[in-house]
Order: sequence, then structure tokens, then C-alpha cells
Amino acid sequence: MKIAVLTGGGDCPGLNAVIRAVVRRGEQLGLEVMGIREGWRGLLDPPQHDRLTREATSGILHLGGTILGTSRTNPFKKEGGAEQVVKNIKSLNLGAIVAIGGEDTLGVATKLHGMGMSIVGVPKTIDNDLYGTDLTFGFDTAVQIATEAIDRLHSTAESHNRVIVCEVMGRHAGWIATYSGIAGGADVILIPERPIDIDRVCEHITRRHKFRDVNFSIVVVAEGAKLGGGGETKVSEKLDEFGHVRLGGIGQQIAELIEKQTGFETRSTVLGHIQRGGTPTAFDRVLATRFGVHAADMVSRKEWGKMASLRGNQIVSVPLAEATAKLKTVDDAFFAVAEVFFG
Ligand code: F6P
Repeated sequence: MKIAVLTGGGDCPGLNAVIRAVVRRGEQLGLEVMGIREGWRGLLDPPQHDRLTREATSGILHLGGTILGTSRTNPFKKEGGAEQVVKNIKSLNLGAIVAIGGEDTLGVATKLHGMGMSIVGVPKTIDNDLYGTDLTFGFDTAVQIATEAIDRLHSTAESHNRVIVCEVMGRHAGWIATYSGIAGGADVILIPERPIDIDRVCEHITRRHKFRDVNFSIVVVAEGAKLGGGGETKVSEKLDEFGHVRLGGIGQQIAELIEKQTGFETRSTVLGHIQRGGTPTAFDRVLATRFGVHAADMVSRKEWGKMASLRGNQIVSVPLAEATAKLKTVDDAFFAVAEVFFG
């Protein structure tokens, strides 16, 4: 059978490890694997694809980004777009599509499966907010990068007696902020799941500086966190094809409020796309490889409309519709661990 793999949405460390694993396991199973260029865009007209062989995917395991390219193209936003994708899947004689992506890419996969297409999914996002899996690959790498940055911010904050606010990614969920904040010893962590109470934040910092004989603090904030009663802080109002705005700026906003209310000199740092670039951690390489092998197995078993998922330490198949129905946000019990260290 001829199948195709595509990567959609924001790039993520570990994408190449999945592609390599689909090709290697696919060849063992007698599958001919094609690579679609730039996500769903590559299945609109004219289709863009290459043959993926063991040779073509050799030496990519440790590389960041995706050799296939990616886009945030949503075929359902274009007049006749979904029908064009279906037509191209048929004309290319593709027996199955392996879609590697987050809530948006896999949301499209779910709908195309509803239109009769043979699709399996692989969960990807540094944000770790996909509901159907315990973890997504790319998250561990992002947490590692953010933790290293927080460690570095500690020494400069301490030398200058400053508060430093570190803004990390996390549009709907504060997983990166919570994990890197705990790992990096943050004094306050702010996440999209909880409206920011700036008075409480300033209380924590003031108490710490007063009673602990320190003159510096580290605050970690997820880009999607909202000031109490307010909305998200945006870089621009322009929407992408999935209806998302570009977030950014909450760190600077919080820093200004902290300095004004506490009198402590405060700076902000935005980590941005550094969290998404470069080589995946060993953990992400292994998880991505397991997902890729499982996805090829799902194709050979004709498990259409399902996604590879990590449950405990097992890789299992879950319905795409269930995995994309809602987001996985930071739960209260987990966040309570972080709160023990506030202030
Ligand atoms: O979806 C992952 C993510 O990293 C979000 O946290 C962030 O808001 C978004 O991607 C930014 O992506 P881009 O700037 O590439 O559109």
C-alpha cells in the first residue's frame, strides 16, 4: 500500500524522529511511504510530495524542525478545500495518511476521516495540551530549554537584586510554565487556567524579599495567561486559519505592574520560538520514535480515525474524535505542588 505522512501546525522537536520511524517500520510492513510538503497545504492543488525512503530519512533523528516543512493551512477554511484534499488523496492513490500535529491538524484529520478518508494521527505539540495522550513529544525539550533559561535568569536576577519575569509558550495550557517553573525553582507561576491576581503576585514577592533575606525573585508566565477580568495579551489581532491570534506581551505587562506596586526593579524576558527550535531531548526522540512505529502499525491494522497515544508507559490507539474534543489543561492537584513554593 502507498501511504503519506505530513506534519502540520507549529514545528516541534521530534517531528523528524516520527517521520523516520514511520518510514522504517513502514518498509518492514511493505508500505511505500510518501512525504506531503507543508502540512495540509501539500494536499491542496497542486499536491506537493516526495518519496520517503530509508536513505532519504537517514541522519534526521536528532534534527529539530521537520524535513517536510509545515503550515497552518486549514483546508476547511477554503471554498472546496476539503473536497480538493479528498480528490488529491485519491488521485495520488494513497491508501492512508499519517497526520502528525496538534489540536488543529488533528482536528482536520478527524473531519477528513468523517468524509471517509483512511487517516491515523500522531500527537505533537510543545504545549502538551492534547487531551488524548498523557504527553506529546516536543514538550520535554521545551521544558528543558525553559528550565535552563530560568537557571540563567536566576544568577543575573540575584546579582542585580531584580525581579525577572520569564514568558514561556503555552497558548491554552500552562504545562511548560508549570513544569519549567517547578524545575527552575520559580517563586510565582502564572498560567492560562487561572486568572492572574496581580495583588497576590506582589504579596508573594514582597513577603519573600522581606522575610527570606533575598532581593530577587523569578516569575514564570505562560503567554496565554490573562490578568484578572481581562483577555489574552496579543501581538496582533490577525487570525490564522484556525482562528488563533498571535499571543505575546503578558510578561512585560506583569513586569511593569510588579515594579509599580512593589518598587522592586523588574525586567522581563520572552523565550519565544527558542523553545521550539533545535535538537529534541533523548526522551522526546524515544517517544516520537514509539509514536511513529505505532502509527505504521495502526496503518497495517487499518485502525482508521485513531491516534497513537501514551497511556502510562504504553503506546495505545485512541479515537481521534475523542482526542480532539477538548484540551488537556493543568489540573488543580498538579498546580498545588507548584504553589507550595510561591513566595
Ligand atoms: O502551538 C504551539 C505554540 O508554540 C503556541 O504555544 C504558540 O502560541 C504558537 O505555537 C506560536 O506559533 P507561531 O508563532 O509559529 O504561529
